[in-house]
Amino acid sequence: MLSKSIEAALNKQIRIEAESSQVYLAMAVWAEVKGLEGISNFMYDQSDEEREHMLKLVKFINERGGHAQISELNAPNVTFTSFKEMFEKLLEHEVFVSESINELVHISLEERDYATHNFLQWYVAEQIEEEAMARTILDKINMIGDDKGGLYLFDRDIQQLTVSSAAQTPGAGI
Ligand SMILES: [Fe+2]
Ligand SMILES: [Fe+2]
Repeated sequence: MLSKSIEAALNKQIRIEAESSQVYLAMAVWAEVKGLEGISNFMYDQSDEEREHMLKLVKFINERGGHAQISELNAPNVTFTSFKEMFEKLLEHEVFVSESINELVHISLEERDYATHNFLQWYVAEQIEEEAMARTILDKINMIGDDKGGLYLFDRDIQQLTVSSAAQTPGAGI
């Protein structure tokens, strides 16, 4: 059985994951309109994954005798000055999500809720992966600079990045 405070904290995370899905959906749309097909597909995949993160929380809360809350969401940023800025925002957002997960882990330990603590370890690992991926992508973008040919190759390669990572660890995030 979940305590009221753990339930509230997990419900807050449902909203964060749902908003993350919207954030990346908006990025996917922006990239698609700009003709960056690979980047767009990458962002559509990210958006789907965030929805899965949200659903996992919904199921966990309900299974443990709580009631998952489906709330209104803040509107995401829908426009960017460059694709570099967009990926900087992605990293910023993932760091924010990691902090939120860390806070949840802290609360679960304080309340000695080891089932929730165990459940959250999946999110801890996921955030390490997602932050690492965002940093790798930003390193590549910094190497490209203003080179249009580089952007073309990056847009092509990021799709392979999505495919190979999904193949290596089925069901795991990027
Ligand atoms: Fe997530
Ligand atoms: Fe994420």
